[in-house]
Amino acid sequence: MERTSDLVGAGEFHHVSVLLDEAIEALAIRPGGTYVDVTAGGGGHSLAILERLGPGGVLIAMDRDPNAVTAARARLAAALAGKSSPAPRVEVIHGAWSVLGSTLEGLAIQEGSVDGLLADLGVSSHQLDAPERGFSFQQEGPLDMRMDTTQGVRACDLVNGLPEGELQSLLRELGDERDSRAVARAIVRRRGERRFETTMDLADVISRAKGGRRGKRVHPATRAFQAIRMSLNQEQDELRALLDSGLRWLCPGGRWAVISFHSGEDRAVKHHFRALAQGCTCPPEVPVCRCGKVPEARLLHRRGRAPSDAEVRANSRARSARLRVLERLTASTSSEGATHGAR
Ligand SMILES: C[S@@+](CC[C@H](N)C(=O)[O-])C[C@H]1O[C@@H](n2cnc3c(N)ncnc32)[C@H](O)[C@@H]1O
Repeated sequence: MERTSDLVGAGEFHHVSVLLDEAIEALAIRPGGTYVDVTAGGGGHSLAILERLGPGGVLIAMDRDPNAVTAARARLAAALAGKSSPAPRVEVIHGAWSVLGSTLEGLAIQEGSVDGLLADLGVSSHQLDAPERGFSFQQEGPLDMRMDTTQGVRACDLVNGLPEGELQSLLRELGDERDSRAVARAIVRRRGERRFETTMDLADVISRAKGGRRGKRVHPATRAFQAIRMSLNQEQDELRALLDSGLRWLCPGGRWAVISFHSGEDRAVKHHFRALAQGCTCPPEVPVCRCGKVPEARLLHRRGRAPSDAEVRANSRARSARLRVLERLTASTSSEGATHGAR
């Protein structure tokens, strides 16, 4: 695991943070509190957290993308240099959500001690826009799509190797691709002649299998590229690992804010948060609770928060964003939910 006492230069990393004010407000930052941003990206949300921290404050930022780690380190280091001493503790760590527990333990962060946890899901603009990362179907680049470029298989390995049936299920299940069968067949036929190596090559084959681009507002390869990216980066497994482990790091009163851009991810977050906020689940005819389930958290906005019209006008990538926030309850407030009245 990389650590960050030695801060490095930002390089080229462009990302406009989404729902920034709303997420920061939701975290209700205490200057001496401990905050974990599990999606450092370009450091935008992390910087806004750091600006509100004082002596005794702690910020842990992590990302599985080494470019993001470099960019966030440089940005936070510059901000830290302007802070009067004693400055808050800042660590920028290279790692994925599946190793969140060991990462925080390695930094001597105790379970139940974190005041705020932030996850801004999905990909950064840097990942989407840098042709060499291979996420874009609009720009020529190597067919890569790995968030963590230090490990794992690349998109070309997956596209050139997956059996047709598996390719089809992946396109349908992760991309909601209606033409999954035709697209999978076209990919398999083409790779029999020549391997896929580049983004535009794959985008062209998908586009032709779907009847071409003409008259279509959304690029025909959008859904297939999304499905391949999600599969390759094990995004569903990673989100599950994050959801399963997040709450136990929070202190009572600690806040957990998640921004998602994909309806399937938002649904997973919504259901998980609602389950944590749910009290007794006994059927209504049972007079006294038998299940003993107490709410562990309360939801801050039942329906989540969407970006303002002004934000969407300024940044079209914000249009599908949704922020969900919960607050961990103290043992005494959550036990009040053991009665039927708290259902
Ligand atoms: C939307 S960007 C975050 C942008 C950041 N909040 C900002 O304001 O600059 C999402 C980031 O999450 C990272 N990411 C996605 N899945 C991850 C995972 N499973 N573990 C760690 N980082 C992940 C991506 O690499 C990307 O940099």
